[in-house]
Amino acid sequence: MRDGLAARYPDSEVVFASKSFPCLAAYKLFAAEGLSIDVAGAGELVMALTAGVAPERIYQHGNAKTTAELTAALRAGVGCVVVDNFDDIDRLEQLATRPQHVLIRIIPGINAQTHESQATGGDDSKFGLPLDQAREAITRIRASGRLVLDGLHLHIGSQIFDIDQFAQAVEAIAVLGVFPVYDVGGGLGVRYVLQDDAPSVERYLDAITSAARAHLPAGAKLVIEPGRSLVAGSCATLYRVTTVKHTGRTFVAVDGGMADNLDVSLTGQPFGRCSRPAWPNRRTRWWTWSGGSASPATGWWPACASRRRPSGTWWRCPSPAPTPTRWPTTTTAP
Ligand SMILES: Cc1ncc(COP(=O)(O)O)c(C=O)c1O
Repeated sequence: MRDGLAARYPDSEVVFASKSFPCLAAYKLFAAEGLSIDVAGAGELVMALTAGVAPERIYQHGNAKTTAELTAALRAGVGCVVVDNFDDIDRLEQLATRPQHVLIRIIPGINAQTHESQATGGDDSKFGLPLDQAREAITRIRASGRLVLDGLHLHIGSQIFDIDQFAQAVEAIAVLGVFPVYDVGGGLGVRYVLQDDAPSVERYLDAITSAARAHLPAGAKLVIEPGRSLVAGSCATLYRVTTVKHTGRTFVAVDGGMADNLDVSLTGQPFGRCSRPAWPNRRTRWWTWSGGSASPATGWWPACASRRRPSGTWWRCPSPAPTPTRWPTTTTAP
């Protein structure tokens, strides 16, 4: 992603949206790879700093930043605060003791084609300011002795498969005038189940950079903030089967659930999975999760399933990494 963006648009930056995988090792890895880090809230800020991320490479986000969080961000010396609202401006002006670089998050009026809870760029979005209010915020910050306006920010949502919408967002952010920096957020969708037809990183970068060349002022820096598209293919969640119950239906209970995967119940997001049953015997068909939110209809990951796993171990695979070749409705355990 970083090299692909730099090759297409040299004055650019990739910021890891750390809410997609807030763990110390991820912060360390992405910082070592030369990415900046997007944090939302004090917890992510503490983790980024603990992982050794240089404060000047941190972007502080959030539409509900508390005074305590802003104080912590300013004390740490974060490179950029993304202003979401006028309260942010008031607080920053009171708290900043030295010049603080900021971006203003705007509402671009793009209704991203995704689950409604993940669409954040439509006119009624709670994130950012509509264009007329953004103009007012620009005037205020430019008049401020403490805040330095680097540019504009937007994020139209997550799990977006229609890359034209990213290009539309770049066009939308350009109407507010000339700035040194335009941060066009994250949102590239990933393949969670076999049916998902997620766009490639290359197509995404082509769309964004072509739009940037067409609509942004010459010499402007282009920033993107990918989250899930950087991490979804890197891991799987491992569960163990704890109970199997037959009550007319068969229920297979595992040692995990909502606490480690809220998306299923919040957004209906299905995940691919691979499993190997210890029950009822080793010559049975491979099994999928039972229940409406994890039904066989959502598919398998054959590449995972073909590998040997310990008996009774189930894997949730939110992973686009293996390329599925077929839909194995029945197969025999080794
Ligand atoms: C401001 C901001 N930037 C970037 C992202 C990353 O989004 P994604 O994981 O869809 O790339 C998010 C996700 O919520 C976000 O809120």
